[in-house]
Amino acid sequence: MSDRFMTVAKVGEIPEGGVKVVRVDDDPVAVFHVGGQYYALADLCTHDGGELSDGELDGHVIECARHGARFDIRTGAVLAMPATGAVPRHAVRVIGDQIQVACETCDEREAAHAAAKPVASTAPPAAAPPPCTDAPGGQAAGRRAFESPAASEPAAASAAAPAMATPAPSLQEFAVRAAFETVMDPEIQLSVVDLGLIREVVIKPGRTLVRMLLTTPFCPYAPQLTEDVKQAAMSVVAQPCEVEILPDAWSPELMPDPGLLGFST
Ligand code: FES
Repeated sequence: MSDRFMTVAKVGEIPEGGVKVVRVDDDPVAVFHVGGQYYALADLCTHDGGELSDGELDGHVIECARHGARFDIRTGAVLAMPATGAVPRHAVRVIGDQIQVACETCDEREAAHAAAKPVASTAPPAAAPPPCTDAPGGQAAGRRAFESPAASEPAAASAAAPAMATPAPSLQEFAVRAAFETVMDPEIQLSVVDLGLIREVVIKPGRTLVRMLLTTPFCPYAPQLTEDVKQAAMSVVAQPCEVEILPDAWSPELMPDPGLLGFST
């Protein structure tokens, strides 16, 4: 996973249901705003290079305008032919009023997405995360409202590799962990990856197991978080996923970058 983020827009700049195309390391990236959350995908259909930002957005599903392939904007997973490969996804975070996208042009990201499996042609899963408190109130909006290049700006934050892991995580595990970057704690407004909640991902034939922590024992968002983690894993590896909540206490030291919560690193 990338440890670099760049600011691509300000909160309020991309209307609800809209998209902005930015450039990240010279590649076009479509930043979508849906349900108060931001999602970033390479603006390139894996079928034949169509610009996804030109497509029709329906909830969390973008349909390529050229031949109708559909993708889940939360994970990049392909939902409908003729595309068969996932679209590379970038992690997004909101720091203050800055929308930041991870610069993930490294080989690791490409390998991770190459390993991502398409999911079955059903609609994307259930519950969308609640609105981000940093997000604009949002008017119903026209799509592709902004086309300007990104105002590139290096970010200070960093995020090291996933906190736990076997010495050599599989490409599928990389892809699953990348998908978890879209699962946000609604209260703290950081992803479960940024918070260091994901402690283990085990992918076996027919079953995926995720062991994770909660920031507090009685986190009111626990059911939603576990379901979102489950759905994110299943969007990459199309098989049942079990999420086990570990009893261990969470602390900021478990975060790849505790500075995101104001703790010194
Ligand atoms: S280019 Fe997107 S479906 Fe063909």
